[in-house]
Amino acid sequence: MTLYKRFFLSQFVFVILFFLNINLAAQSEGEQIFKSNCAACHTIGGGKLIGPDAKEWLSSDRFVSTDDPLGTLVKYVQNPADFGVLEMPAQALTAGEIKQVLDYVDGYVPEVKEVVTSIEVAEEESTNPVIILLIVTLILFLLILVLVSVKNNLKESLSLPTETVFESFKNYVTINRNKIIIGFVLFISLMYLLYNLMMGVGVVEKYQPDQPIAFSHELHAGLNGVDCNYCHSSAKNSAHSGVPSANVCMNCHAVVKGGDDKAKNEIGKIWKSFGLDIETDDFDWNKLDTYQQTPIEWIRVHNLPDHAYFNHAQHVTVGGLECQQCHGNMQEKTVGQVATAEELNKIDYNIKDGIEFDHPTLTMGWCIDCHRQKEVDMEGNDYYTEMHKNIKEKHEGVENFTVDMIGGLECGKCHY
Ligand code: HEC
Ligand code: HEC
Ligand code: HEC
Ligand code: HEC
Ligand code: HEC
Ligand code: HEC
Repeated sequence: MTLYKRFFLSQFVFVILFFLNINLAAQSEGEQIFKSNCAACHTIGGGKLIGPDAKEWLSSDRFVSTDDPLGTLVKYVQNPADFGVLEMPAQALTAGEIKQVLDYVDGYVPEVKEVVTSIEVAEEESTNPVIILLIVTLILFLLILVLVSVKNNLKESLSLPTETVFESFKNYVTINRNKIIIGFVLFISLMYLLYNLMMGVGVVEKYQPDQPIAFSHELHAGLNGVDCNYCHSSAKNSAHSGVPSANVCMNCHAVVKGGDDKAKNEIGKIWKSFGLDIETDDFDWNKLDTYQQTPIEWIRVHNLPDHAYFNHAQHVTVGGLECQQCHGNMQEKTVGQVATAEELNKIDYNIKDGIEFDHPTLTMGWCIDCHRQKEVDMEGNDYYTEMHKNIKEKHEGVENFTVDMIGGLECGKCHY
């Protein structure tokens, strides 16, 4: 038994080491730092994003002209403000960490989109968690085989009866039944917790919470052709688009009470928010003040962090964008949902405007993707009659202006 325990322990340690190894192999520290601290603003070999291409950092005049380019670069990254740069936030990194980032940048080979070599594919797949799990399972299985044969060898040398893998397994299960059941339940709970945690962090694409009323955009905006602006009336002239109040619903649902029980039940919830019963009461606009209203508690779907500023009117009215370019085909969905970048790339308006998103919806990269590609229509746009001349002078010879040229990449425009 003690021998068995020792085997079990070594097996456990092996598994832990194995996992650590994979993490180290898949991502060097330099890569990790780059991805979490720099990638939002710098590409490697992909051209300028918000800051210059990382491959060009070391050849920048700013550093080349000094006695110690590398040392100056390190100082720069630690505190760009010392160099009069306010657009890049100071990075709390040690000189060693910054050098690791540079090593990673130096060794990084940009992915060639058309020609995908088999090596690249293999590398990409090895970081896929499913593949890693499969490999771990396989290795564990091999390990079991090896251990059982070792055990049998030992037993043989002590002239004890030997066991096959299956018999060992059966014995182990009968002896440890309770432990196995508890372990299994714990494992599943842990996985469930982890899954929920991961879904909650940063991932907003496809987010579509259940709403207090089974509202359907498809039925209203699709089949009945109600204009988005009828319900989201502030999108055209204010920063927030807002969700309609129950009064807006009552414009129709004071009369439209639903064709079947299910519909009537859901529409009844709108009535309830006025303190009325759809079956017995009457609705009277003149008595609106006397109703005990409790607002319908719609759950917010889109929610940018507080430090970011987004204005609907600027995009819809001034920029002339359609709702679908950012929200996808809402008229084909039930309740509100955050569209995915892939869905947005299939929207005709975006194809026509030459907009292709590379970053997940609602991230900073997503905003920038569009600002780099969408041309601003300045002719006949009152907002620009003043600005127009100045910009044309600034970018002489350029015919089409994208949003970034009118300041769409300036931090202060999107951040308080
Ligand atoms: C929020 C955006 C942002 C982040 C994050 C960011 N940078 Fe920058 N970085 C910039 C901008 C913008 C510039 C250009 C500033 C200028 O020249 O006025 C810049 C410039 C630089 C330069 C100078 C390049 C040159 O050609 O002058 C280096 C080096 C640099 N960044 C390294 C880093 C490293 C390393 C990280 C991560 C640890 C990082 N940056 C993170 C925005 C960022
Ligand atoms: C322009 C008119 C109009 C407005 C405004 C309107 N609806 Fe409707 N709604 C309809 C029509 C028409 C139906 C189809 C009724 C039926 O099932 O016979 C309907 C059906 C529904 C249903 C039943 C869906 C089903 O399963 O059949 C719900 C729930 C509903 N609406 C909620 C709302 C809410 C909430 C609002 C306000 C945000 C609203 N409606 C605003 C016209 C409207
Ligand atoms: C340029 C992209 C873009 C366009 C075009 C756009 N939206 Fe939005 N919409 C957003 C973003 C980003 C948010 C999240 C805003 C926030 O959290 O502050 C949002 C949020 C919303 C919300 C949630 C309430 C709010 O204001 O935060 C509604 C409703 C909405 N949009 C409806 C519309 C409608 C209707 C249209 C068309 C008239 C439209 N949007 C056009 C990007 C866009
Ligand atoms: C009849 C009224 C009505 C019409 C018409 C309508 N919506 Fe909505 N919309 C709502 C209601 C009510 C909600 C809140 C419940 C939900 O999330 O589905 C909502 C939610 C949304 C949200 C998510 C808001 C959030 O919390 O982030 C978006 C985006 C949105 N609508 C876009 C559109 C677009 C685009 C159109 C036109 C194709 C449209 N809506 C037409 C009533 C309407
Ligand atoms: C589908 C394209 C698109 C997306 C996505 C988009 N924008 Fe824009 N944005 C525009 C256009 C077009 C304009 C120019 C509007 C105009 O003519 O002033 C603009 C202008 C702006 C401006 C004003 C810039 C200036 O110099 O006046 C701000 C601020 C802004 N957007 C913020 C955001 C934020 C924040 C996001 C992401 C949450 C975002 N935008 C996503 C297309 C987009
Ligand atoms: C077009 C709009 C826009 C511009 C321009 C912009 N940002 Fe952002 N930024 C955003 C949005 C939206 C978010 C929130 C993204 C999210 O929640 O994932 C964000 C997030 C951030 C974050 C938090 C880290 C993160 O990735 O979530 C930092 C730091 C930041 N921005 C710095 C800057 C700096 C510095 C500049 C100027 C060089 C800048 N931003 C320019 C829209 C913008």
